[in-house]
Amino acid sequence: MKECVIVDGLRTANVRAHAEKGWFRSIRPDDMLIQVYKGLFARNPLVKPGDVEAVFCGTANQVGMQNDIARLSWLAGGFPESVASNGVCQQCPSGMSAVEHAARAIMCGEGDIYIASGVEDMQKVPMGYAMDFPPTLLSRYNIADIPMGSTAEKVAEIYKINRTDMETMALWSNKKAFAATSEGKFKDEIIPVQGEKEDGTPFTVDRDQWIREDISMEKMATMASPFKPGGVVTAATSSPLTAGAAALLLMNREKADALGLTYHLKYAGGAMAGNDPTVMGIGPIFAVKKLLQRANLNVRDIGIWELNEAFASQALAVVRDLGIARNAPFDNVNVRGGALALGHALGESGIRIIVTLNSIMKTDFRDAQYGVATLCGGFGNSNATLWQKIHE
Ligand SMILES: CC(C)(COP(=O)(O)OP(=O)(O)OC[C@H]1O[C@@H](n2cnc3c(N)ncnc32)[C@H](O)[C@@H]1OP(=O)(O)O)[C@@H](O)C(=O)NCCC(=O)NCCS
Repeated sequence: MKECVIVDGLRTANVRAHAEKGWFRSIRPDDMLIQVYKGLFARNPLVKPGDVEAVFCGTANQVGMQNDIARLSWLAGGFPESVASNGVCQQCPSGMSAVEHAARAIMCGEGDIYIASGVEDMQKVPMGYAMDFPPTLLSRYNIADIPMGSTAEKVAEIYKINRTDMETMALWSNKKAFAATSEGKFKDEIIPVQGEKEDGTPFTVDRDQWIREDISMEKMATMASPFKPGGVVTAATSSPLTAGAAALLLMNREKADALGLTYHLKYAGGAMAGNDPTVMGIGPIFAVKKLLQRANLNVRDIGIWELNEAFASQALAVVRDLGIARNAPFDNVNVRGGALALGHALGESGIRIIVTLNSIMKTDFRDAQYGVATLCGGFGNSNATLWQKIHE
């Protein structure tokens, strides 16, 4: 088998998916994606767009502006028609699934160079838009238990995760994200894109919009749950509605060597796991267990984790069940903040967390031998990927 390495990764800033306040409200999701692709090629001039075997793109809601966005954005960006593109849909893990498709293709020798990407604009294509549930599904599950916020409430109840612990995690996530931004840690991974401020002033967006510097336990304690009367999950402990795009340049290691390109992580496996959709957020527990068992590793072998924070309740349930940690602050999980602060642009997040992991393992966690990126998925469909340090 060939080896698949990360040559580069790039993303737009994650911004509010909001018609009046979102910094990318005048930019289409395909355009966000095109700008990321162009940025990747500009940073890697030895790789020409025509050298790419295929582009995989994860998007959760593939309707309207996001219908076959994989192909249409590639063509709209002026890239070669000869390069195939494939849209991947698996709700939130769509982007991570795109990575796994590309990695497997490289490892089995189908091609040498792939782009794995993801994009979502949750304002222009709202979550669940135009969805038509199969009637038999609705006789299997209670429709009220299916929406993401309801699943987060149910996980909090089953796993006895209290509100203070969730809000402590939201506070920590925002503080870490704010510190990482202030220290320029996202500088290398965010491509600046022209957007507009809340008042309409044009500006270059090179930082994530959601991060709250002024977050406080006192304010969070006053917020009500939008999901359930008397519930414990609030806007502060939920990932916000977000727009963003991200992409990874993945390559057969021999090809990267032949081109003289540098890399420091290789794909060491992926696992998907299904679980009860009414508690979809605990899915990473099953995906990570499968992943580690196959690789003959245990939780302590993993030096650094990127765990998508769809909701604080599910993220805490996952770290507790796996024995990684009990409460924030965490030593080696989401050390630059997570989706509670950075946002969660559904199909983009599976790429975003790997882009960030790649950067963390190159800088702050240089000695970590293994890193895991994992996220839960709507309707009970989660993924985890294992990344191994290569010492050149
Ligand atoms: C939770 C949710 C319903 C809130 O949506 P919303 O009501 O449109 O609004 P906002 O995110 O703008 O937040 C609502 C309010 O809470 C405030 N707020 C949010 N987080 C806060 C925090 N940490 N501290 C203080 N205030 C906060 C906002 O500022 C806003 O108040 P304002 O209107 O006075 O400015 C929405 O973000 C959501 O559905 N999230 C989950 C998305 C999801 O399911 N993703 C998939 C996961 S699998």
